[in-house]
Amino acid sequence: MDLELKGKAVVVLASSKGLGKASAREFALEGAKVMLCGRNQEVLEKAAKEIETESGSPVFWEVCEVSNQEDIEALMEAAMDKMGRIDVLVNNAGGPPAGKFVDMKDNDWQQAFELTLFSFVRAIRAALPELKKNEGRIVNIASSSVKEPLDSLILSNTFRMGIAGLSKSLARELAPDGVLVNTIGPGRIATDRTKDLDEKRAEKNGVSFEKARQEAESMIPIGRYGAPEEFAKQVVFLGSFANTYVTGQTLLVEGGLVKAY
Ligand SMILES: NC(=O)c1ccc[n+]([C@@H]2O[C@H](COP(=O)([O-])OP(=O)(O)OC[C@H]3O[C@@H](n4cnc5c(N)ncnc54)[C@H](OP(=O)(O)O)[C@@H]3O)[C@@H](O)[C@H]2O)c1
Repeated sequence: MDLELKGKAVVVLASSKGLGKASAREFALEGAKVMLCGRNQEVLEKAAKEIETESGSPVFWEVCEVSNQEDIEALMEAAMDKMGRIDVLVNNAGGPPAGKFVDMKDNDWQQAFELTLFSFVRAIRAALPELKKNEGRIVNIASSSVKEPLDSLILSNTFRMGIAGLSKSLARELAPDGVLVNTIGPGRIATDRTKDLDEKRAEKNGVSFEKARQEAESMIPIGRYGAPEEFAKQVVFLGSFANTYVTGQTLLVEGGLVKAY
């Protein structure tokens, strides 16, 4: 299947590592130009070089804190400057801190809102004129928690639902402009974020890291964590121009973990 991404311009937020980077890499392998962003210049430079060498596609980067309005605007300006257009926007951010309702103060809620939900709103707003002009695609990375909440992740559970609501509403508003909008929810994909969460759980339960990971993997019908590439291929289809009729949907990539319909 031709994903019709050759020469297209893709901006992926929070993409120096993990799911964002894997998604950017798959777009580049399909012949798209990509713009990466993250907070650490060294990590970004390394990721850009790696993807560019492997794919042969142009890869650009911009240091950006996704919860900062000016940084988001500067990112889109850099994308226009370097790539001349924006066809696809993949929204992503670092995960908010884990914890229960009683653990969270006002400031935690405010920061999680800015990071997890409002960063997406700002990025969409800044890229929208281009996305409308090019009949583009938006893919919002959320979590499997949009179908089944995860214990002790109250901030994530709350604001990821906001992402799903935003995507569904926007899909209807933007369909007449030819812009398709979808949400994608990772279950447990092997990245630094899952490693951190497993380390914390191992410490809390007084077991080894390997044991904590085995326990988590045994709950997944496919029997293992997903690889970032497995996740990224679904992002790339939803964000491609081979996708002409799927919009407003939430796709989970979770090896059968979630029981909800
Ligand atoms: N992996 C999973 O199984 C899974 C499951 C459910 C949900 N998720 C969610 O999916 C998202 C990505 O997860 P991941 O596993 O790919 O995480 P990761 O491996 O920790 O990578 C996160 C990426 O985002 C960048 N980043 C983090 N905070 C940022 C900020 N404020 N501004 C700009 N860039 C930022 C990081 O770079 P810098 O730190 O250098 O900025 C890094 O490139 C997270 O929200 C996570 O909670 C992941």
